[in-house]
Amino acid sequence: MDYDSLFRKHLDALRAEGNYRVFAELERENGAFPRARRHTDGTVSGVTVWCSNDYLGMGQHPVVLTAMHEALDRCGAGAGGTRNISGNNHDHVLLEAELADLHGKEAALLFTSGYVSNWAALGTLGAKLEGCVILSDAFNHASMIEGIRHARCEKRIWKHNDPRDLERHLAELDPAAPKVVAFESVYSMDGDIAPIAEILDVAEKYGAMTYLDEVHAVGMYGPRGGGVAEREGLMDRVTLIEGTLGKAFGVVGGYVTGSRDLVDFIRSFASGFIFTTALPPAVAAGARASIRHLKGSDMERMRQRANVAKLRARLDAIGIPHLPNPSHIVPVMVKDPVKCKMISDILLRDYGIYVQPINYPTVPKGGERLRLTPTPYHSDADIDHLVRALSDLWSQCALSRAVA
Ligand SMILES: Cc1ncc(COP(=O)(O)O)c(C=O)c1O
Repeated sequence: MDYDSLFRKHLDALRAEGNYRVFAELERENGAFPRARRHTDGTVSGVTVWCSNDYLGMGQHPVVLTAMHEALDRCGAGAGGTRNISGNNHDHVLLEAELADLHGKEAALLFTSGYVSNWAALGTLGAKLEGCVILSDAFNHASMIEGIRHARCEKRIWKHNDPRDLERHLAELDPAAPKVVAFESVYSMDGDIAPIAEILDVAEKYGAMTYLDEVHAVGMYGPRGGGVAEREGLMDRVTLIEGTLGKAFGVVGGYVTGSRDLVDFIRSFASGFIFTTALPPAVAAGARASIRHLKGSDMERMRQRANVAKLRARLDAIGIPHLPNPSHIVPVMVKDPVKCKMISDILLRDYGIYVQPINYPTVPKGGERLRLTPTPYHSDADIDHLVRALSDLWSQCALSRAVA
């Protein structure tokens, strides 16, 4: 059997659909965020990154790096085992306490990524709670969808950000059945924000527990960076808050927070937690330093918001269409997969600007876009350069401009 030809068949199909992914090879430049060196066929060029999820540049913040260096020298590289078998390092325990405090919960549990935390936690809840029904927002992230699939329990998909549709589903279910309402606060592609209070009202009315993914919001919103639920004073009403250490906190890892019993339940039954090597202690120490810093410092969030406002105003001034939303994500709408990829390629090649094109299936067909994420460290000159480049390319590609 020629297995490679089977693999190629699938890859060719992906290419034919225009969905084959090509990665930019970057070397991030510590101390020069958001700059990176780009490697192509043996040559190296400088780029400014405009699509990083290291939203606040914490991946290069001195407090994070110092904590990581210190822990690396103290503990060495890896954790040396699963949490159960020799890998439970003091730094993991301290980080979990930091996370529980961030969200005002009794306990927290670390995972190797946000993806794994969603997959493992939802999978465990749905599989272990007898008769459980998971009610999932239609736009939930792949990691939640996979977790729910893995749970093999009954599931209901409710219309995106629509508490009325959620209620319609809840009203049909057995009042005695355990129910989990799973949703996100900030949706990463459109940058829209869930009506959390209304969703909680409905969930509470029907006795459902709530599972809130704050992956794109932790570090970014709320006076201490606890997310949108913190900003809106709702954290105590959410049963489980899930987050990542890999985006605004600038490191890597995922977590869930909730009551002591809920967290102990996931710790005790989730295979995605139990049967994998724990995060390196230096990663845990760096993440903790990042969280502690952002609990006390609003400067990064303020500057980041100012840059979002500046960029939006500049785009408006030249009629480059971008989706209005209340978050930090600026989706510039191209609405054509070929032009979207072409603009991204030219930005990289001719302007030293890196923004990955977002095409189907990540977004619906016709929703192709450049997802811009201004950080606190993009300068006015960076914004100027980006806006001029987009203006040139909009004209070259004969794309329509929004009328003010
Ligand atoms: C909504 C959402 N949840 C979870 C994840 C996974 O988080 P991580 O990157 O830490 O695996 C992502 C990743 O982009 C996400 O967008």
